[in-house]
Amino acid sequence: MSPPPVIAIDGPAASGKGTLARRLAAVYGFAHLDTGALYRAVGLLVLRAGGDPGDSGHALAAARALAPDHPVLADPALRGEDVAHAASQVAALNAVREALLDFQRSFAAHPPGGRGAVLDGRDIGTVVCPTAGAKLFVTAGVEVRADRRVKELRAAGLDAIVATVLEDMKARDERDSRRAVAPLRPAVDAFVLDTSALDADQAFATALVFIRSKIGPA
Ligand code: CDP
Repeated sequence: MSPPPVIAIDGPAASGKGTLARRLAAVYGFAHLDTGALYRAVGLLVLRAGGDPGDSGHALAAARALAPDHPVLADPALRGEDVAHAASQVAALNAVREALLDFQRSFAAHPPGGRGAVLDGRDIGTVVCPTAGAKLFVTAGVEVRADRRVKELRAAGLDAIVATVLEDMKARDERDSRRAVAPLRPAVDAFVLDTSALDADQAFATALVFIRSKIGPA
C-alpha cells in the first residue's frame, strides 16, 4: 500500500500558511498538523516551569514531555508573542528538533482519518517530509505580515503594538533563517507563493491549482 499523500507548507510568521493549510486539509479531507504549535508548546512549558528557552536541558525536557494529547497543545496562551519568541529560541536547538521529528513524521505517515496529511511549519518540505507530494513555500513582505499578526492578536483579545510586533517578527525571521539546523528556506521543489498582494481566497485559489497539479483533485 502506498503511503498517504502529504502536503508540506512552509514559510515565515504570519505569511498565511496556517489558514491555507487548514483550508487545503478541509477540501482534501486530510488531517492537519500545525508544527509551530509544537515549538510554541515546548516554549510555553519551559516558561511556565520558570526555565530558560535557550537552555537545551530545559527545552529538551519539555520537548520529551510533549505527547499528541498534552493539554498544553490546546492552551490559548500558545498564541502569545512571548511564546512565539520562546518557540523560536527552543527551535534553534538541535536536540529539540530531533525530539519533535518522530511526532511529526508519525503524523504524516499515519494521519488521523488515514486519507492524507497537511503539515505546516518552517522545515516540512526540507527536513520533516522531504518526499511530500506537494510543497508550498508561503511568504509575504515583513510589514504586511506584522500588520496581519497585529490584527490576529487583537482579534484574540491580546495587546499588540505594531512597531513591537514588527521588530519581533524581523528578529524571529532572522533567527529562523540563520540557524544552523533546519533553517527557514524553500525546498528546491517548492512552489513559492507570495501572498503580499493576495487575500486569503486568492492565496487559496492559487495554491489549489498547484496542489491539484501535484496530487490530483480533492
Ligand atoms: O504562527 P507563526 O508563523 O508566528 O509561528 P509558528 O508557525 O507558530 O512557529 C513559531 C516558531 O517555531 C517559529 O518562529 C520557528 O522558530 C519555530 N518553528 C520551527 O522552527 N519549525 C517548524 N516546523 C515550525 C515552527
